[in-house]
Amino acid sequence: MKLGRTLIDTDALAEGVGRLAREIDAHQGGRPALLVGILKGSIFFLCDLAKRLESPVMLDFLQVSSYGSGTRSSGNVRLLRDLSTDVAGQEVIIVEDIVDTGKTLGKIIEILGTRKPRSVRICALLKKRIPGNEGIPVDYLGFTIDDHFVVGYGLDHAESYRNLPYIAILEPEVEGEESAEARPAAEASAGAAKR
Ligand code: IMP
Ligand code: MG
Repeated sequence: MKLGRTLIDTDALAEGVGRLAREIDAHQGGRPALLVGILKGSIFFLCDLAKRLESPVMLDFLQVSSYGSGTRSSGNVRLLRDLSTDVAGQEVIIVEDIVDTGKTLGKIIEILGTRKPRSVRICALLKKRIPGNEGIPVDYLGFTIDDHFVVGYGLDHAESYRNLPYIAILEPEVEGEESAEARPAAEASAGAAKR
């Protein structure tokens, strides 16, 4: 896989996050919320969002696994790390990087739902336009995207690319086309100098 074109640049991300913060503030009306970030993909989004919110918020984190190193959800969602806060009576906002099949969110809602929160809302930066996930209730949505595998701004492929400050498409390597990393160093830097 190799890095393809930028889908959402840094400015557009900041603008989208600002809009989400205003929507959440309008809905909270000054009432406190517990932001539950889903590790690790939501970290950059959660930090930027929290800084734009005027509502009082507390932060907590959940980690689940569903992907391994592939590019499609296995549907086999496991809880890897639990919250350290009691959610009973709280207005919980789940902060997720991307909704693909919706299986991860389904599992998280199921876990939190048993703990008597006052309410559970979902804030997702991205949602893929794929058949079957239309019914996943996202209360605050940043961007709808086509069915690409994307990386950056927290999103990874096998743990790489999370720290890109924008969101880009990850593309399959074309047959016969070698990646820069696969070429000998001298040849790769000569190639770079020509560009
Ligand atoms: P779902 O359970 O199919 O909705 O998948 C959701 C989770 O899979 C997200 O929390 C991401 O961690 C991961 N994921 C889904 N699509 C992508 C993608 O395009 N790039 C990187 N991670 C993704
Ligand atoms: Mg995730």
